[in-house]
Order: sequence, then C-alpha cells, then structure tokens
Amino acid sequence: MAVQESEAAAKVAYSRNHPFMAPVLRNVNLNGPGSAKETRHLELLLEGSGIRYECGDSLGVFPTNDSELVDLALEALKSSGEELVVDPQWGTLPLRAALLRRYELNNVPPNLVRAVAERSGDTKLAALAEPGNQQALEAYADGRDSIDLILEHPAMRFSAQEFLGCLRRMRPRLYSIASGPTANPGRAHLTVAVVRYEHRGRSRLGVASTYLAERIGEGGYAPVFLHRSKFRMPEDGMAPMIMVGPGTGVAPFRAFLQEREALGHGGDNWLFFGDQRGATDFLYGGEFEAMRQRGVLKRLSLAWSREGSRKVYVQHLMLEAGAEIWAWLERGAHFYVCGDAERMAAEVDEALREIVRVHGGRDAAGAAEYLEAMKKARRYQRDVY
Ligand SMILES: Cc1cc2nc3c(=O)[nH]c(=O)nc-3n(C[C@H](O)[C@H](O)[C@H](O)COP(=O)(O)OP(=O)(O)OC[C@H]3O[C@@H](n4cnc5c(N)ncnc54)[C@H](O)[C@@H]3O)c2cc1C
Ligand SMILES: NC(=O)c1ccc[n+]([C@@H]2O[C@H](COP(=O)([O-])OP(=O)(O)OC[C@H]3O[C@@H](n4cnc5c(N)ncnc54)[C@H](OP(=O)(O)O)[C@@H]3O)[C@@H](O)[C@H]2O)c1
Repeated sequence: MAVQESEAAAKVAYSRNHPFMAPVLRNVNLNGPGSAKETRHLELLLEGSGIRYECGDSLGVFPTNDSELVDLALEALKSSGEELVVDPQWGTLPLRAALLRRYELNNVPPNLVRAVAERSGDTKLAALAEPGNQQALEAYADGRDSIDLILEHPAMRFSAQEFLGCLRRMRPRLYSIASGPTANPGRAHLTVAVVRYEHRGRSRLGVASTYLAERIGEGGYAPVFLHRSKFRMPEDGMAPMIMVGPGTGVAPFRAFLQEREALGHGGDNWLFFGDQRGATDFLYGGEFEAMRQRGVLKRLSLAWSREGSRKVYVQHLMLEAGAEIWAWLERGAHFYVCGDAERMAAEVDEALREIVRVHGGRDAAGAAEYLEAMKKARRYQRDVY
C-alpha cells in the first residue's frame, strides 16, 4: 500500500499513550565477530501509522521485561504469578502480565526500600529511606534491582498488590531515528547499543535495548511513538556541517547525511565517529565509506579507542584538525554532537572551546562568547543521553 493511501486510512492518532505496533522488518547486529559490543540495526515499518518524522527526531519504545527476570521476581515473592492485581490504567490482570509489560523491575524505587524496611525491621535500610539521604540511597541502589531487595530480606512477605504498588511504571526509552525520511518513506531505522553487564553474581540486562535485540525479531512488532526534537539539520542546504557522534551517537547523523544526499543539498559534511575497534565496530562503515567516495562526506575522521596503546577519542582528532575545524566554523559550519552525555559531550565541548581559543585567537571569555553566539544561531546543537 502506498504511504499516502495507508496514512489516509489511519484513523487513530498514535502517541505515547497509544503507541503504534510497528512491524520489525530487519534486526541485525552491526558489530563484527569478536567485538566486545553488540549494536543492533532495526528497520521498522511506519506505514499506516500517520507518523511523519524529521531528521533529528526519536522514536519512543515501550519494552517488555525479560520473562526470566519476571520468573525470578515471582520466585523471590513466592508467587505463582496468577494472583490478580488491579492497575489504575490496565484494570485487573495477573501479576505475571503486570510485571512483564507494565512495571520496571531492574531498579530500586525509594517506595520499595521504605516498604521492605518497614516489613523486615532493617534499620539500616530504613535510614536510607529517610528524607535527606538521597545520596546514600543512590549509592545503595546503584547496580541493584527490586529483586535483590526481596532476596536480601527472605523472611519478609508482600502481597502481589502491595509489591506492585511500590514499583515504577514501565517507561518508554527513546532511540534516535537513524534514517532519512526521503530515502526511506514509511520506514524508520534505529541503532541500539545493547546493555548487558554482571552485577552481584547475576547477569543484568537493559530492559529496552535487550527487548529490541533479543525479544522481538524480524516479523515481530514494537510499540512505538514519535518523540519530536529540536535537533535539526541546517535549513540552508549549502551550510557546512560538522557532526561528532561516537558509538550510537552516529544514528541521527546517518539520517542527516541520507537526507542531504536525497534532497541534493550540496553543503560540505564532516563526520567524526569513534568506537572500540575499526575492524569490528565501525557502525555503518561501508555506507559512510561509500558516502565519502560519492563526495557526500567531504571528511570522515575515525577514532578507535582500543587499537593502540593509548585511547584515541573523537575530541583528540578534533584537536589535531583544529585549524581546519576553525576554517569550517568561519565558513558558517553547523556543529553537532550526539551520544554519551556523561563525559564525551563535555570533553568535545572543551575541545571545541580550545579550537576557538587557539585558532580563533580568543581568550577563554571570547571563546565562550563565540560558542554562545553559535548556540543562539542554532549552529551548535547537542543531543546527548
Ligand atoms: C533523546 C535520546 C536518544 C537516544 N538515542 C539512543 C540511540 O540512538 N541508541 C541507543 O542505544 N540509545 C539511545 N538512547 C538511550 C536509550 O534511551 C536507553 O537509555 C538505553 O538503550 C538503555 O535502556 P535500557 O532499557 O536497555 O537499559 P535500562 O534498563 O534503562 O538500564 C540502563 C541502566 O543500567 C545501568 N548500567 C548500564 N551499564 C552498566 C554497567 N556496566 N554497570 C553498572 N550499571 C550499568 C545504568 O544505571 C543505566 O542507566 C537515547 C536516549 C535519549 C534520551
Ligand atoms: N554504564 C553505563 O551505563 C553504560 C555503559 C556503556 C554505554 N553506556 C551508554 O550507552 C550509550 C551508547 O553507548 P555506545 O556503546 O554506543 O557508545 P559509547 O559507550 O559511548 O562508546 C563509543 C566510543 O566512545 C568512546 N568513549 C568513551 N569515553 C569517551 C569520552 N569521554 N570521550 C569520547 N569518547 C569516549 C568509547 O571508548 P572506550 O569504551 O574504549 O573508552 C568508544 O570508543 C551511551 O550513552 C553510553 O554512555 C552506558
């Protein structure tokens, strides 16, 4: 069915409160054999949803918990899972169904800490739940989940309804759309880093990333909604773009580049990408190399952090190419950063500041002013998480 036809047929306005069940057309690992990472490329069909995205937007995904995790929770609660519980939004349903789709299990909500402390008489735990002890509570919760709390207090009992009342509702996770809408009508691509780690003797799974990686294959359906962003490519198709997106941060830039090429925008494009190893972790490497050959990418700078004796990160390559970055900025380049908010984005900001200082001949205040003016003009945008 043509996109327009099917959209006309869409009678429902899909939203966060009413997600669209998007068919999964493709679900593949982008990392090569031997990589320490797993990053999934998903292609979702949006035809019939009425969802029209722009480059820079994200999709929200409502995940389902891992059924083994739910079994573990039921075992810890000494529950069969058949007990009926009442949910204000979903009505009456068996505890297992509520735990699978409606509530988060892999964190430690303060309400649960309080309830376990009251029922078990654990005074240390009770102290953590006191107002003002936020930091200590966060340290305690780090890496633990709701099941740990129950397992650590085996004598305590909860009814199914009481337990549910202490949990957080399942929240959707956002994923940057990695495809340009013009080249991919009625489809959206996602680039998902799979979160898995060991803690307290158990393997832990990120809820949504492992849901997308393991629990819905090709032919399955993902509940999604559109999350609009202010992260946008330049309106002027001739404006140069510098994009810094290590790891999954590259996702919106794949979309930007696809869109610029599809629309015939001739502005120069420069991508900084980085990950652990070039041989296994160059996400969409073949596509970006081909874009370089076609001239869509004028520059492609690649930082492999685990190939040599020292870490090479995107900001190191920026500093090496400082004079050229400065020249691009002076030609009106737009500067974009996407990916890790914790350290990368701040270090890239510092590198950019350094480039403006050194190559633009400004002091710290002058460089700050320059970047502030870029932000005001929407020429310096970040999408970090
Ligand atoms: C606007 C926006 C766009 C985004 N785009 C993307 C994207 O394109 N691709 C992408 O992959 N993600 C993206 N994210 C992040 C994504 O939304 C999820 O946060 C991410 O996938 C993790 O979700 P999860 O449900 O798998 O993990 P959760 O179940 O939420 O668990 C994650 C938590 O696990 C803990 N954790 C993780 N690793 C470890 C470890 N090694 N040791 C101890 N604890 C650990 C941390 O507390 C972490 O917060 C984006 C986020 C935003 C806000
Ligand atoms: N503990 C956690 O919660 C956890 C764990 C992993 C990822 N994440 C998050 O998951 C998201 C996606 O991760 P991802 O796997 O796509 O990529 P990522 O973890 O951001 O890694 C991509 C590349 O960035 C490098 N990197 C690490 N620190 C950096 C820094 N300060 N500056 C610049 N580059 C840096 C990494 O190198 P090295 O890895 O070699 O240092 C790697 O080469 C990110 O938001 C990330 O923060 C969270």
